[in-house]
Amino acid sequence: MSEAAKPTVTITLDDTGKSTKAPLLSGTLGTPCADIRKIYADLGIFTFDPGYGETGACESAITYIDGDQGILLHRGYPIEQLATKSTYTELCYALLNGDMPTTAQHDAFVDELKNHTMLHEQMRHFFNGFRRDAHPMSILCGVVGALSSFYHDSLDINKPEHRSLSALRLIAKMPTIAAYAYRYSFGFPFVYPRNDLGFAENFLYMMFSMPSEPYEVSPVLARAMDRILILHADHEQNASTSTVRLAGSTGANPFACIAAGIAALWGPAHGGANEAVLKMLDEIGSKDNIPDFIAKVKDKNSGVRLMGFGHRVYKNFDPRAKIMQQTCKEVLGELGITDDPQLEIAMELERIALSDDYFVQRKLYPNVDFYSGIILKAMGIPTSMFTVLFAMARTVGWISQWKEMVEEPTLRIGRPRQIYTGAPQRDLKPIAERG
Ligand code: CMC
Repeated sequence: MSEAAKPTVTITLDDTGKSTKAPLLSGTLGTPCADIRKIYADLGIFTFDPGYGETGACESAITYIDGDQGILLHRGYPIEQLATKSTYTELCYALLNGDMPTTAQHDAFVDELKNHTMLHEQMRHFFNGFRRDAHPMSILCGVVGALSSFYHDSLDINKPEHRSLSALRLIAKMPTIAAYAYRYSFGFPFVYPRNDLGFAENFLYMMFSMPSEPYEVSPVLARAMDRILILHADHEQNASTSTVRLAGSTGANPFACIAAGIAALWGPAHGGANEAVLKMLDEIGSKDNIPDFIAKVKDKNSGVRLMGFGHRVYKNFDPRAKIMQQTCKEVLGELGITDDPQLEIAMELERIALSDDYFVQRKLYPNVDFYSGIILKAMGIPTSMFTVLFAMARTVGWISQWKEMVEEPTLRIGRPRQIYTGAPQRDLKPIAERG
């Protein structure tokens, strides 16, 4: 298509009649974006989009979401196929490198990851600085940020080999840090990684084994954990990924950027939701209390939300939630859990919400966190660790998005605008004259 024939959007200022043509940019899939980069030069205005719901901030070839159709693709592959036909480490390779690996590429990648599963022995002392009752997300934030002080050999973000090494280190060390954060809270001894185990298996081993006795990881639980990791691996330009990109746009090192992502993920509207789901189920207490709770959720003044429901992008269903619901059944079956009261409340909430006009009209469906909390609880993982697991899984998405951004020739620091609503310019009186 010639330059002249490219579709544009014309934006006209009604009061002056001045206008600008914003070229319409299209990717391989998805909604086109009007390129408004000349709008200030041409019209002297900015655009306003708090929450960035209608704003594209980057080009990306990693993940695609169609929220209306309930589609999630990584490198073009549907999440349903990834969750049933591949493993987390295969997906890690694809997110980082552009396509799913061959067996040889995967073997080499996993070998490289295994070189980096251990933590520097000095890092163990960091944990002692935290209170035993510290939230493991605060430990994760602190320790991941501190990795920058251990790897000065790989912090030059302009060198591709440094970027790749940092990515491997982060993905490989995250399960070790997460398991240490958990064990620290109980005073259990730290368990070194076992490189003869798979990624998810090794994580469960570091979490639950004791040096004093043998420990077998259940293959069903290891597979469920691997699936949870796959389902959380990346999710396009969500709040924590955008935080990683924004921090990275300044040239900050990748460990610092991922620590920023962890902080953003912590909030209950984002990664903290699965922890919040379990707290909510606890507060509801019994099936009899559900109608009162639903009434509170519908009352705008109560500030209460049905946690694990709704999504900024998915307005049909969350494809991850469907797979998670199936995994939930498998895990509960494997563990022989048939009469869990929280599960009963969750299922009843789901039933009511899916048929209630309030939720139907607003297109509020269960999201991935609604079921993941129940599965993780059944596996014996404490609620405070739920968001840690999310962060562990999402690290590959964050670092892949960071790498993609840093590798763009046009990288610019992220710097949004504002509508200023404060005092106009005024003269400052010395303190004695201010009355
Ligand atoms: N419970 C009750 N009402 C809700 C909920 C909910 N969970 N979510 C949205 N609404 C209502 C909201 O009050 C509003 O109603 P109205 O139009 O009458 O004012 C309408 O639905 C639209 O809500 P919104 O706040 O504009 O939606 P959003 O896109 O800004 O919020 C969300 C998305 C995920 C933050 C929100 O749905 C929510 O807070 N959900 C609960 C927390 C949760 O489960 N988060 C996990 C998200 S999935 C994991 C991840 O990707 O991080």
